[in-house]
Amino acid sequence: MKVAIGSDHGGFAQKEQLRSYLEEQGHDVVDHGCFSEESVDYPDYAAPVARAVASGEADCGVLVCGTGIGMALAAGKVAGIRAANVTRPDFARLAREHNDANVVTLSGRFVDVGTNKDILDEFLSTDFLGGRHEVRVAKMMELEHL
Ligand code: RB5
Repeated sequence: MKVAIGSDHGGFAQKEQLRSYLEEQGHDVVDHGCFSEESVDYPDYAAPVARAVASGEADCGVLVCGTGIGMALAAGKVAGIRAANVTRPDFARLAREHNDANVVTLSGRFVDVGTNKDILDEFLSTDFLGGRHEVRVAKMMELEHL
């Protein structure tokens, strides 16, 4: 899969490990930064990842900050993005199956890298179920026009 990845300083260390993990699995990963632990602003990194997904340049996005919360809020402002802040693997599966999430946001400070790898495994290998969820997701996306 084509994966756009990004982080702020709070997620930098894990972003580096997760990018390597995804590359080892054969994914085509584009890293949108940041590239050090120097303090930065998470919306500056959520934006290019979200735009890459919204434009179809990437199949999905992975964003890491201290909690994953700021990244989810910022990425979700971009039209077409359904960003889920995920802290456990089963929620990653449900975010795909039920919500058709196209960006997963992770905590680099409160969730260990092994769990985040398991979250990515679930996120990248699970398909949207469609059916009754299709209607709900369509209604959710209509909210962009309010
Ligand atoms: C940075 O200190 C921290 O606020 C950020 O990484 C993130 O957790 C925001 O949601």
